[in-house]
Amino acid sequence: MKAAWYKKQGSAKSVIKTGDIDTPNAKPGEVRVKIAYSGLNPTDIKRRQGFGGQPQAYPIIIPHSDGSGVIDQVGKGVLKSRLNQKVWIWNGQWQRPFGTCAEYICLPSRQAVPLPKKTSLLHGACIGIPAITAHRCLFADGPIKGKTVLITGGAGAVGNYAIQLAKWGGASLIITTVSSESKAKQARMAGADAIINYKKQNVIKRISTITKGAGVDHIVEVAFGVNQPTILAVLKTHGTVACYASDKKPNPMLDFYGFMLRNANLRWVFMYQIPESAFRNAIRDINKWLEYSDPYHPVDKIFPLFKTADAHLRLQSGKAKGNIIISINS
Ligand SMILES: NC(=O)c1ccc[n+]([C@@H]2O[C@H](COP(=O)([O-])OP(=O)(O)OC[C@H]3O[C@@H](n4cnc5c(N)ncnc54)[C@H](OP(=O)(O)O)[C@@H]3O)[C@@H](O)[C@H]2O)c1
Repeated sequence: MKAAWYKKQGSAKSVIKTGDIDTPNAKPGEVRVKIAYSGLNPTDIKRRQGFGGQPQAYPIIIPHSDGSGVIDQVGKGVLKSRLNQKVWIWNGQWQRPFGTCAEYICLPSRQAVPLPKKTSLLHGACIGIPAITAHRCLFADGPIKGKTVLITGGAGAVGNYAIQLAKWGGASLIITTVSSESKAKQARMAGADAIINYKKQNVIKRISTITKGAGVDHIVEVAFGVNQPTILAVLKTHGTVACYASDKKPNPMLDFYGFMLRNANLRWVFMYQIPESAFRNAIRDINKWLEYSDPYHPVDKIFPLFKTADAHLRLQSGKAKGNIIISINS
C-alpha cells in the first residue's frame, strides 16, 4: 500500500518518506479501513519532533491519529455488516505504530465510528482528536446547559468544535478569544456569541462588560500558563477550567489560593486516555451533533500523500485556518 512514514524523529523534510509498504490484515476484533483522508493535529508534529522528551516509540511510524474511510475487511469476532461502512477514526496512532497516513489501517473496531450520512469523508477526517477533546473539556464535569462559557482560541481545531458543541449542549452565552479578523470570522461561523481579539482588546474588561460583571461559569483553555491571570479574573466562584494545552508556558506557577478561594474546579484533559465511558459518551454525542445540527468543519488545505511533509510544515507555520488534511488517493 501507499503510505507516509518516519523511522527517526526530526524535521518534516528530513524524516518523512512516502512510498510502498506491506498492506496489513485485520486481526481478531479489528477492522481494516481503506483510508480516504488523513487528518493532521499538533500532536502528530510533537511526536515526530520528540516534544517533551517523548521517544521514537516504534522503529517505523505511519503518522496521524485522525482519518476517514470505508471498512473493507473485518477480523474474527467483528460483524460482517460493518463491511462497506463509512467511518471516522480516533486514536489511530496512539500507542500503536501505524496511523492513518496510508491507504489502509487496521485498528480495534470501536475506533472506527460509523460516519453519519450527511457528513462527508473529508469532514470525517477533521473530527477525532479535536472534537473528542472539545467534548471532554465541556462535559467532563456535568451539563453546561444555561452556563456562560469562555473558549480561548476559538479558531483553533479544538476551540472551533468547542464553540459548536457548547451551543449544542445548551450554553447560554459563548465567548471566545482570537488573534485576528480572519480567525474571528471562523469563530463566528462556529456560532460564538461574543468574540474578543486578545491581541488588541482587554479580555478581562470585555468579559466583564459582556457578562455585566458576573464572569464565566466554565472555561475551555488552550493556553493555561499565559492566560492564568485572565482565568482568575473572569472565573465565577465554583467555576470550572478545563485545560488541554499550555504550549507557550508549560511550567506556570500555579496561583493555588486564587483557585482555592473560588472553590474552582481545575480539570486537566488529555484526550488520548480519558475513561472508557467518556469516550463512549463523546462518540455518542458527537455523532448526534453531526447528524442533527449543521456542523462547520473549516478545512485549511488538502495535500496529496506524497506532500505529507509539506502538510506538517503548514501546520507548524501557525498560519493554517482550519484543519489540514491529506488526501490518500491523489
Ligand atoms: N490535551 C489534549 O488531549 C489535547 C488534544 C488536542 C490538542 N491538544 C493541544 O492543544 C493545542 C491546540 O490544538 P489545536 O489542534 O486546536 O491547534 P490549532 O488548530 O493550531 O489551534 C490553536 C489555537 O490556539 C490559539 N492560541 C494560542 N495561544 C493563545 C492564547 N494565549 N490565547 C488564546 N488563543 C490562543 C491559536 O490562535 P492564535 O495563535 O492566532 O492566537 C490557535 O487558534 C496544541 O498544543 C495541541 O497539541 C491537546
